[in-house]
Amino acid sequence: METIYYLVLVPMVYGAFVVFGLGSVLRLAALWRRPPQPSTLRIHARRAPGWLGALADSFLLPTVRRHNPLLWVFLMIFHVCLLLLILGHLELFKRFEVLQVIEHQVFLGRGLVGLALTLALLFFLFRRFVSPNRDLSVPEDYYLLILLLLTVLFGSQMDWARSWYGYGELTVEDYRAYLMSLVLLKPQLPSAVTGSGHSFMLVLHVFFANLFLIFFPFSKIMHAFLALPVNKLRRG
Ligand code: HEM
Repeated sequence: METIYYLVLVPMVYGAFVVFGLGSVLRLAALWRRPPQPSTLRIHARRAPGWLGALADSFLLPTVRRHNPLLWVFLMIFHVCLLLLILGHLELFKRFEVLQVIEHQVFLGRGLVGLALTLALLFFLFRRFVSPNRDLSVPEDYYLLILLLLTVLFGSQMDWARSWYGYGELTVEDYRAYLMSLVLLKPQLPSAVTGSGHSFMLVLHVFFANLFLIFFPFSKIMHAFLALPVNKLRRG
């Protein structure tokens, strides 16, 4: 078991970040080198300045809000929580004093971010079981959502155990020691990381997160990088 834990928590994490970084750069470079489209993508009459309008289209999703307000609410919750999730994972490396304006140990939201993401992902998944979304969905849509759901569920379980039930064997200091050792290329696994009752949850969380990172550059999630430039092209 120790060997499996090591393989997932160390070499697979490095591998996943290399595929994620290199894969994303190569895919973006391939798109950049494509010959320009003969037709224009422009569909909007220019109302707001191009980039400002594109920012609003990308982050506030006005078309979705008009046509499907419930989906819009879940999309907003999901994207705000993703931002909090990025901050939370950065705090797993180092404590940021500015974030202490809201007193917390790690992960703002006391477990509610994970809960909100779980509910949003269940909504995104189940809406694809109902027509007409079902007829428009391809297997990749389901794989991606299930992969995210598993990643989020195992991550949240650890936060809920600590914040809601006072589980104290696997501490933030243990995570920091492990993650900083990866950054410094001197990997170390503190005994709590591999030997506590919740180590298997961490290993499953990191395993699914690694798969997600490996899958990212070849999936629809590349829209994270492309939404803004495409909306700018639409705005003209
Ligand atoms: C290799 C990359 C990753 C590592 C090493 C990692 C590690 C962790 C750790 C140590 C926790 C803290 C658990 C606790 O509070 O006790 C956590 C929480 C969490 N992670 Fe990750 N994670 C990674 C990637 C991801 C990804 C890609 C996602 C989803 C997109 C994700 C979603 C979550 C969620 C939802 C939580 C709980 C947050 C909350 O409840 O507030 N993680 N992660």
